Amino acid sequence: MKRIEQPVLLVVFGASGDLSKRKLIPALYHLAYQNLLPPNFTVLGYARTKYTDDQFRQLAREGIEEYGTLGIDEHIWHWFSQGLFYQAGNYDDAESFNALSQRVAQLDKARHTGSQHVYYLATPPAVFKPITRLIHDAGICPADPDGLQRIVIEKPFGHDLASAQDLNEHLLQLFNEDQIYRIDHYLGKETVQNILVFRFGNGIFEPIWNRNYIDNVQITVAESLGIGDRGGYYDKSGAIRDMLQNHMMQLLSFTAMEPPVAFEPKAVRDQKVNVLRSLRPIDPADVGKWVVRAQYAPGVSDGKEIPGYLNEKGVPAHSTTETYVAWKLEIDNWRWKGVPFYMRTGKALAGKVTEIQIVFRKPPLMLFEALGGDNVPPSNVLTLRIQPDEGILLSFDAKRPGPSVIIERVAMDFSYQSQFGSQPADAYERLLLDVFVGDSTLFVRRDEVELAWDRVTRVLEGWEMQEKAAKQENGKPLKLPKYAAGTWGPKEADDLMNRDNRYWRNPTALRILR
Ligand code: BG6
Repeated sequence: MKRIEQPVLLVVFGASGDLSKRKLIPALYHLAYQNLLPPNFTVLGYARTKYTDDQFRQLAREGIEEYGTLGIDEHIWHWFSQGLFYQAGNYDDAESFNALSQRVAQLDKARHTGSQHVYYLATPPAVFKPITRLIHDAGICPADPDGLQRIVIEKPFGHDLASAQDLNEHLLQLFNEDQIYRIDHYLGKETVQNILVFRFGNGIFEPIWNRNYIDNVQITVAESLGIGDRGGYYDKSGAIRDMLQNHMMQLLSFTAMEPPVAFEPKAVRDQKVNVLRSLRPIDPADVGKWVVRAQYAPGVSDGKEIPGYLNEKGVPAHSTTETYVAWKLEIDNWRWKGVPFYMRTGKALAGKVTEIQIVFRKPPLMLFEALGGDNVPPSNVLTLRIQPDEGILLSFDAKRPGPSVIIERVAMDFSYQSQFGSQPADAYERLLLDVFVGDSTLFVRRDEVELAWDRVTRVLEGWEMQEKAAKQENGKPLKLPKYAAGTWGPKEADDLMNRDNRYWRNPTALRILR
């Protein structure tokens, strides 16, 4: 178990907001509950809203009660809440940061937290630059030899390649790369980390984890909810920026990377970067050949009526923002050449599920007529179930007992819940702990974020070209393909697969094998 050696002061910018209340505070409380925080652990919430320390403590308690999974233990709460403080201020004026720096000094003195500070930016991206500039100018996050002064940056990290490069340049003028922790909460999920253990901790999978045995890989990150009241944010983002550029590229990297020489930050991140480097860049003019985008139309998902995307609050009537994206990617390297990776993600789909399916090649000769000859889809599929119902499942064909050869698809199914009994910890717990101990393995390095944006920006450019062409041709904004809320996406995404004589596999978490 990782131990934090010194008392830590964590300053959370955006402390009055949703992320802090839903995720950060409950995760910190859970760490306290497990006795994983150092003595005198201190949080200084910072935001524009004017709260007192006590009001902030109340807000934190509500967050833990509503979103935590362990319930309030008064003894632990007492210890934890004594370390919660709040400071109101602006994100862009030096005076507020002078006051902040005085408060930091005062807390350091009172709580002996002087040796380690972590500044967590849980704010909208528009204020990332002013906040980091002012942190730097206030001298509260100097580059020390032990790297104990750290900055954590939430997503979105840029909105295209140029803005991500610009933000990186800005940060690296102020801090060293090893002080910067770019967070992607998917990397904190137990089951995502288990991809590496599964692949590299076992001897039997790696020899077949390549183009000789694998036909294709499918990564699905589906959500059943629509965008709800996040229209203002979402319409400027869309599925490819919100989910694919970050979370799904991470899933892809873990699935496709070469074995690292050691499980340490540089070695792991170097191999992830190599995957991204090998992702074939598309020509924007060809975007339609590789990528499908769509918007949800009215429907019912998870028993709830969902309006069409264009009727959601905060969404302009002619919006061309995609709520669904499917992308066929090629990895041009020795291991994967010729094995397509199909990725899809969307809002208002038939279920909330994240899965990676590794579809193995069929046997060279179909001996059993009962299997249906050459046109049946491959039967051997390894599914890494990231959420829900976390686990790993291998499907294969078996003979049903009896005199004739009747073949049935069956599965070997490992479930975290039945094996280990407990719910996996929330991703933020693991990641916060890693920041405190200074382990950046599960954080995104500068080159990773830029390479991912490079590949995605080509798609965005292609879409822009399509939109311009539509306007020129008929003077009207482009209309995106639609899918009814509560389904698995648009017909166009099925066509993308069918063109290759393949089909999207239903997520196994929903207990449908074929
Ligand atoms: C966030 C996106 O990063 O991830 C949200 O902004 C999305 O739109 C969420 O709902 C999904 O995370 P999870 O952990 O619930 O799969």
